[in-house]
Amino acid sequence: MRTQVAIIGSGPSGLLLGELLTGAGIDNIIFDRVSKDYILGRVRAGVLEESTVALLDQANSSSRMHAEGLPHDGFSLAFDGRDHRIDLYGLTGGKRVMVYGQTELTRDLMDGRERSGAVTVYEAGNVQPHDFGGAAPYVTYEKNGRTHRIDCDFIAGCDGFHGASRKAVPDNAIRIFEKVYPFGWLGILAEVAPVSHELIYANHPRGFALCSMRSMTRSRYYIQCALDEKIEDWSDQRFWDELRRRLPAHHAEALITAPSFEKSIAPLRSFVAEPMRFGRMFLVGDAAHIVPPTGAKGLNLAASDVHYLFSGLREYYHDRSETGLDVYSERALARVWKAVRFSWWMTTMMHRFPDTGDFDQKIQEAELDYLTHSQAASTALAENYVGLPF
Ligand code: FAD
Ligand code: DHB
Repeated sequence: MRTQVAIIGSGPSGLLLGELLTGAGIDNIIFDRVSKDYILGRVRAGVLEESTVALLDQANSSSRMHAEGLPHDGFSLAFDGRDHRIDLYGLTGGKRVMVYGQTELTRDLMDGRERSGAVTVYEAGNVQPHDFGGAAPYVTYEKNGRTHRIDCDFIAGCDGFHGASRKAVPDNAIRIFEKVYPFGWLGILAEVAPVSHELIYANHPRGFALCSMRSMTRSRYYIQCALDEKIEDWSDQRFWDELRRRLPAHHAEALITAPSFEKSIAPLRSFVAEPMRFGRMFLVGDAAHIVPPTGAKGLNLAASDVHYLFSGLREYYHDRSETGLDVYSERALARVWKAVRFSWWMTTMMHRFPDTGDFDQKIQEAELDYLTHSQAASTALAENYVGLPF
């Protein structure tokens, strides 16, 4: 069997790339090692930049997002018992973000793919890219006791941090930059109205907390936790008590609680693999880079990679030009590193590190005070949060 672009991974980057390619008349097949239901059971990102929203428009996958998503014009930074609004809309000349869960976005893209009849192979075992250094790459996978081979022009490695694509690259052809943070985020979902109509990022001597949402009746809350915490040690009551302690009093009093229906711990890491192109294989999204979630950049970076790769592939098939593909890695990495820097900075400013003492806490609070009172500093924060241009 043959396709033009073989896409490994049916997360947001693989699905978005697939929808854009199908819309441009470029044939593609997606392979994922797990089932559709498993993918839709993962709770991850929640904040979309305007450029990500525009790409979903371009992929004809945005009608439910525009109907049900929540446009946000600002968010709060809480510290030292107070909170301060960052006016994203005012500071950026009219830009906002869209609060819409990754799970819903993934479902919309999957629905679009099913409508168009494009092929996705779920529960494909041992998916492997081959011969991407030459002119005739192919992908193999196992299903129903047989090994299948798909020949293609290009391979898009959209298979996340633990995927097979990056692992298939020889060590001497790739350079890794990595920073692992000494804490994680414990997150819950609960069927309750959010504590505030905008997100709250809280710095507290006990650790970071984030109040987010999926709708006006469903809240997503996170607290910083130690890496060795066990989920079973965190009853709902313990989570709510700890969250309350880390919020300014007026929010703690307003917090509505209910039994959680999802609870998980995510480690925090910054990671970049360079380059993002290896002959006829391209790494996209989490397969090439990871950012800590503070600042909500992971999913949005996956979208900007897809934008650059899609324009390169469209130029290749429609205009017979390889220029866009040749500059893919360089263009994507230039934007990636700025988001890596922003996410690292937000993480460093908002979290308690094992060596954070009273002095460091005061420095964090002084930085937050400056940030929320200086127009120049608030503008730099807002500009990065709504997303730098593609
Ligand atoms: P993924 O979503 O990881 O998708 C990769 C796909 O490839 C998956 O479907 C996987 O099953 C498949 N796959 C993996 N290996 C193979 C293989 N060998 N063969 C075939 N298929 C394979 N970002 C934010 O902005 N905010 C957040 O709050 C946030 N929270 C997160 C919490 C967690 C636990 C994680 C892991 C990530 C979080 N992120 C967050 C990051 C964000 O979710 C990712 O940046 C985004 O999912 C990237 O999309 P992707 O399609 O590149 O990768
Ligand atoms: C969410 C996650 C983030 O990392 C963030 O910065 C904002 C919101 C969320 O899951 O809603």
